[in-house]
Amino acid sequence: MKVTEIIAELNKILTLEHGHLGMYKNFSGYQDKEIRRTFRRFAEIEMEHINKVRNAILNLGGKPSIIIEGGDIIGRLFGVTINLASEKDVVKTFSWVEKKSHQGYAGFVSKLEQHNGTMQQFIAEIAAANMLEARLMHLWLEDKLLKYNSRKLK
Ligand SMILES: [Fe+2]
Repeated sequence: MKVTEIIAELNKILTLEHGHLGMYKNFSGYQDKEIRRTFRRFAEIEMEHINKVRNAILNLGGKPSIIIEGGDIIGRLFGVTINLASEKDVVKTFSWVEKKSHQGYAGFVSKLEQHNGTMQQFIAEIAAANMLEARLMHLWLEDKLLKYNSRKLK
C-alpha cells in the first residue's frame, strides 16, 4: 500500500473509531452497573484507538479528517438502523459492530503485511493492537449476551 492509500484507510478507520466512542461515551445512563463500568473503560479504549490512529496519520504526513461528522456515524457507515430499545439490544448491536471492527482491522493488517516496508510493518503493529482490543470487546459483549439469554433478562 502506498502512503496516500494508507492515510485514506486510516481516516476511514478514524471515522469508525469516533463512531465507537459514540457508542460507549454515554455509559452513565445504563441501569446495569456492570455495563456502566465496562462501557466506561471501553470509552477510554476507543479514545486510545482514536489517538493512535490520529498520530499515525500525522506521522505519515497526513491530515486527520473524519469522513462523517457527528450524529449516528455507525448507522450511516453500515447503512443500518441501530435498535437500542433495551440494554440487551444495545449489547447485541455493539457486539456486531466490534466484530465488524475486528474484521476491518484484520483486512487492513493483512494488506499492510503484503509489503515488507518498515513503515507498513509499523502501521500494521498499531492496527493489530486496536484489532486485538476490538476482539476483546466483542468477546465481552458476546459473554454478556449469553448472560442475558440464560437469565432471560431484557
Ligand atoms: Fe475501536
